[in-house]
Amino acid sequence: MDSADVRDDLVKVLFTEDQILAKVKELAERIEKDYDGKDLLIVGVLKGAVMVMSDLARAFSRHVEMDWMAVSSYGSGTKSSGVVRILKDLDGDIHGKHVLVVDEIVDTGLTLSWLTSNLSSRGPASVEIATLLRKPDAQQMPIEVKYVGWDIPNEFVVGYGLDYQERYRNLRDIGTLASHVYS
Ligand code: PRP
Repeated sequence: MDSADVRDDLVKVLFTEDQILAKVKELAERIEKDYDGKDLLIVGVLKGAVMVMSDLARAFSRHVEMDWMAVSSYGSGTKSSGVVRILKDLDGDIHGKHVLVVDEIVDTGLTLSWLTSNLSSRGPASVEIATLLRKPDAQQMPIEVKYVGWDIPNEFVVGYGLDYQERYRNLRDIGTLASHVYS
């Protein structure tokens, strides 16, 4: 089992590594234009955002600062309360800074809704969100996401940072998992 190929349990590849990198490059170009002449801090939401942060930062030719937060929803794995606990806060002060929160997926929107309001209370110059994926049908909180890679159906997806029980994050593509894995 542990030596199995990480791609074995996929039923469908939604986005290949090449498609993902091209999309991240496209987002990076938009972001570079929008933040021209301004300092930019990108904040990755651990752990899923590790891959997109890494590729986005390297797609920029401009300077960018990087920081990280880790958050967890209260309750037994359910996000329905919308209450979030900070496991790891930013290292630095964001007062007066242009902050772009980077995540790999907006699902219900609860995490980023809470996070952006928390960050906004710290007096930044601006706070925006960039996400590679968004599930419009799963959204529970109205949340403004300025940069979206793709809108996807409400299916369970893994790869490129997205996990199922901490596995599949290291898959280079993004795909849907065979139901026998989680049923
Ligand atoms: C995922 C993802 C977002 C959040 C989105 O993180 O990285 O932060 O869920 O879901 P929401 O829109 O329903 O709030 P997760 O809590 O799975 O942690 P991980 O990044 O460590 O996998």
